Amino acid sequence: MKISVSFLSIKDNLEENLLKLSKTDADYIHLDIMDGLFVNNKTWSSSELEFLKKLNKPFDIHLMVKDIYKYIASFISFKPIFITFHYEATDEPIKVIEYLKELGIRVGISINPNTDISVLMPFLDKVDLVLLMSVNPGMGGQKFIKETINKIELLREIRENNSYHYLIEVDGGINSENIKDINSDIVVVGSFITNSDFYQEKIDELR
Ligand code: DX5
Ligand code: ZN
Repeated sequence: MKISVSFLSIKDNLEENLLKLSKTDADYIHLDIMDGLFVNNKTWSSSELEFLKKLNKPFDIHLMVKDIYKYIASFISFKPIFITFHYEATDEPIKVIEYLKELGIRVGISINPNTDISVLMPFLDKVDLVLLMSVNPGMGGQKFIKETINKIELLREIRENNSYHYLIEVDGGINSENIKDINSDIVVVGSFITNSDFYQEKIDELR
């Protein structure tokens, strides 16, 4: 299981703390990009995060935005491993998937807690990642929504039965307790790690 660390909850000394994070064995740095439209919160512009490029960690970009193409254009220079958009943010997911594939980026599609897996059926043979939100998007430090477990198991079954290749990532409210019930390929963890000064110790606890 890989760990993708979200820095949404880091309130001060962001650059210094991300430098510290880049020295851990975290598998990815998870960039939570919010536009204040798809979710109420608005986070960093690509220029505010420019310093990330000098860190030697792969990026897992989570777009919680309405204008998906605009944000892909501004973050493509980060050469991310994944760019994930929200099913709920577009009426043409296929076009976004194809656009990202043309850019040579691994494509992730995300659904909110109250969106059913069934909406993903037309895309599962095309995407590299499915990001299941286990909290309502918009902020860190929320409580894990237990129903997400059923979605993980269902996605595993569908992948198995159809020999699809997508990875399953879960995002929100994950800690060293509930991680035991999460059978995904990647977990996104924010506040459990970043609320502590000892990032590596918290990652070790999760592993
Ligand atoms: C929420 C973000 C998540 C969040 C995870 O909208 O997409 O990545 O930052 O943080 P924790 O682990 O604190 O829930
Ligand atoms: Zn996220």
